[in-house]
Amino acid sequence: MNEYSVSTDEITRLAADHLWLHFTPLSDLRNGEVPVIVRGEGCYLEDSHGHRYLDALAGLFAVNIGYGYGGEMGQAALDQLRQLPYHTNWGYMHPRSVELAAEIAGLAPDGLNRVFFVSGGSEAVEAAWKLAREYHSLRGERRWKVIARHIAYHGTTMGALSITGLPECRTPFEPLVPSVTHVSNTVRYRRPPEETEAQFTAFLLAELEAAIEREGPETVAMMIIEPIQNAGGAIPPPAGYLEGVREITRRHGILLCADEVICGFGRLGAWFGSELYGIQPDLITCAKGLSSAYGTIGALIVGDRVAEPFLNGKAMFDHGMTFGGHPLQSALALKNLEIMRRDRIVEHVSTTQGDFHATLSQLLDLDIVGDLRGSGFFWALELVKDSGTRETFSQAECDWLLRDFLAERLLEAGLICRSDDRGDPVVQISPPLVATQEQFDEITGILGDVLSEAQDKLKGSR
Ligand SMILES: Cc1ncc(COP(=O)(O)O)c(C=O)c1O
Repeated sequence: MNEYSVSTDEITRLAADHLWLHFTPLSDLRNGEVPVIVRGEGCYLEDSHGHRYLDALAGLFAVNIGYGYGGEMGQAALDQLRQLPYHTNWGYMHPRSVELAAEIAGLAPDGLNRVFFVSGGSEAVEAAWKLAREYHSLRGERRWKVIARHIAYHGTTMGALSITGLPECRTPFEPLVPSVTHVSNTVRYRRPPEETEAQFTAFLLAELEAAIEREGPETVAMMIIEPIQNAGGAIPPPAGYLEGVREITRRHGILLCADEVICGFGRLGAWFGSELYGIQPDLITCAKGLSSAYGTIGALIVGDRVAEPFLNGKAMFDHGMTFGGHPLQSALALKNLEIMRRDRIVEHVSTTQGDFHATLSQLLDLDIVGDLRGSGFFWALELVKDSGTRETFSQAECDWLLRDFLAERLLEAGLICRSDDRGDPVVQISPPLVATQEQFDEITGILGDVLSEAQDKLKGSR
């Protein structure tokens, strides 16, 4: 029996009949293959059979403070629900969303001072695209297009999905919202070995400039980028790239949106990736770490220059949702930010990220590990057939390695992380920001054992 007094068998049976999981074959429910997670503490989760897992994915890159703050967060929720369970940000306001907006503005890069609340990352991206369009309209321009990057994930609602650059996500739902162009992302592992970082940056910026010219700069409303791109495996920008993107977009009157749904709120050892890389975007989308996923809240943070035309006369942003700025979600996010400041969680990431990187680097001794990339507490290993030649796997080998072998063996070994081949095959590692050397060692130890086993099996089968 689990803590809710329902047996695992009963939960599994009810799920098989009634629950629809996200991005998961429904048949997995019928086969009873889906773990039932019942409890969390610190960086660890426990399933209904009492198996313990180190959650090296922080839920979905989201539980930044880890699972140990339920009591404190619960008290904040209780206080808020007693005082005011709900009111809206639509023609009214209530204290918590105002306080949260001010708090976020204080943490965001200079010049981004206004906050529009939503329920998650996809909605934040939707809001960014719509706001960019309306901003240009108010200034007498008709701009509607977006530039995003290949393989980047920006969400699943139709607008956000159209911006997402992953064919696997897009194809089933085409035709999508028109007018999104994708340019190269910044993965460097497969670039010509003689190319310098500066040459790579110059190539990317020239490609972006050409894409803008092709589309017609006067039609492009916004470019969206993650400071470090998640899909494809924690892809950092080469030196000078983000500054170059900022300069090009500004020169063409295009709004730059930093999608910080993962990078924001400490994952990179700074409150925002934009701050870390010294750029001032016009818009920032965020969600996950804003409440450490104790709540369901996202936000669009808006630069003063973008808000400015909306301050005139009766101008308004013609957009809104029932749950935007919900008092309970706002209270949870406020408490999360208070905890992050009090327990110096961002500083912890910043001071220990070097140790995390050094520990994970041991895995580069394995032939199957070609690349380790990322920053802060946000890393990915690119898996290859042979690290010397950088040869990648066939689709059949990838299917076996990621879906048949790693997914199962890592869980058996007590580690939750994600193996993914949307792009090149990678293992993504993104633990709660309260992880310490003990967890760095455990993650590295388990990955080392399981990846060695995979390597031996693949070699044996050749
Ligand atoms: C960069 C980025 N943008 C947007 C989203 C969509 O967020 P949500 O799943 O909360 O809608 C995600 C989700 O992983 C993301 O990583």
